[in-house]
Amino acid sequence: MMTNTPADASMRFLTGITTSGTPHLGNYVGSIRPSVAASQGAGAESFYFLADYHALIKCEDPARIQRSTLEIAASWLAAGLDPERVTFYRQSDIPEISELTWLLTCVTAKGVLNRAHAYKASVDKNQAAGNDLDADISAGLFMYPVLMGADILMFKAHKVPVGRDQIQHIEMARDMAQRFNHLYGDHLVLPEALIEESVATLPGLDGRKMSKSYDNTIPLFAPREQLKKLIAGIVTDSRAPGEAKDTESSALFQIYRAFATQNETSAMRKAYADGIAWGDAKTKLFERIDHDIAPMRDKYQALMNEPEKIEAILQAGAEKARAQAMPLMRELRHAVGLRKLAAPAPAAKKQKLEKTSLPSFKQYREADGLFYFKLLNGAGKLLLQSHGFAAPKDAALTIAALLKRGPQALKEMSGKLLTIEDAHSDAIAAALQQLMDASA
Ligand code: TRP
Repeated sequence: MMTNTPADASMRFLTGITTSGTPHLGNYVGSIRPSVAASQGAGAESFYFLADYHALIKCEDPARIQRSTLEIAASWLAAGLDPERVTFYRQSDIPEISELTWLLTCVTAKGVLNRAHAYKASVDKNQAAGNDLDADISAGLFMYPVLMGADILMFKAHKVPVGRDQIQHIEMARDMAQRFNHLYGDHLVLPEALIEESVATLPGLDGRKMSKSYDNTIPLFAPREQLKKLIAGIVTDSRAPGEAKDTESSALFQIYRAFATQNETSAMRKAYADGIAWGDAKTKLFERIDHDIAPMRDKYQALMNEPEKIEAILQAGAEKARAQAMPLMRELRHAVGLRKLAAPAPAAKKQKLEKTSLPSFKQYREADGLFYFKLLNGAGKLLLQSHGFAAPKDAALTIAALLKRGPQALKEMSGKLLTIEDAHSDAIAAALQQLMDASA
């Protein structure tokens, strides 16, 4: 499916962490731990950065931004991120990122940004409350995906490890790259989201997903006593000691499992069946977490006491990052025409691209044994994805109907056969029309 994925050795991973809070156990299990482990593997090249420009969108407290940047940097370093092996930097130390943001702003359709989840959620909230639709919405929130696109495209990242909620942003970045390349030549790499299925989402104190917005978190580097107290506050049911307990619905068990080995988890499962008292289960959980965290906590404290050391690490990271960002930005400025007046203008090459590539249908079989098809536009962007068909013939017949009756058939089939992202319905209709015209 990928158009420009190189071999593993040159695979580039990049991810950003918004600096508007204090890292908690959920961040550790879901992001810090797997990222640090991945960065220690051979081959891949990793970029990790503190997304402090993004933090400004949600947080207007300067002291908190600074504090959070320090805490997050110290957390990643304490968890074992090796700044010699990876490129670890602070977004706002790379001025080229805001410059690229502008170039991308100019190739991004406003309508696409209107559909970004976070922005849309704010608009919907205003609507539900009967407020002006734009009430309390900053242009920063609206532009969030473009800034994120610049983060990613600046370093030619192939894979962007993120949570599910960020997939749309990566797809937007991909579209921006595609549009830019289409207009100005092949300069940017098309990124892909990387969703780690095996990484656990941790429940919080109240059993819901651990998240700052639910106020149910356990800070990663809470002092021992506080960690113990917080764990004592995790919800349980009212089963008495001696009564068998359910593991799947137990937040305590889910958190334990995220830290324990398989054997430890089996032993805990048995203890649940045997009716372990909740108090004892909590003690075991505390000890298990503290076992992993305690050594990092010491490093964290040491780092927090030496912010100038972290600052120096980030400055060194910025230097490494800018060694890539500056030449790319120079190339891009030239490409869009921001160039010395005496420089010769290369011949325009837009026409060719448009003529040669038609949209196309691709049929394939998935691991579930069903047959699927998808429609890609001329640039290879996914426009439409079918549901699974039991027989390949049925998939082919559906394609035939689409090719025969075009946008009209699409209307009849929506809801029945096809998952059509509303974001693309115009593009789908246009692509079908293009195919019909081409075969006419
Ligand atoms: N938006 C991301 C989040 O909230 C943070 C982020 C900013 C990011 N820029 C990025 C993640 C670039 C990956 C790549 O989690």
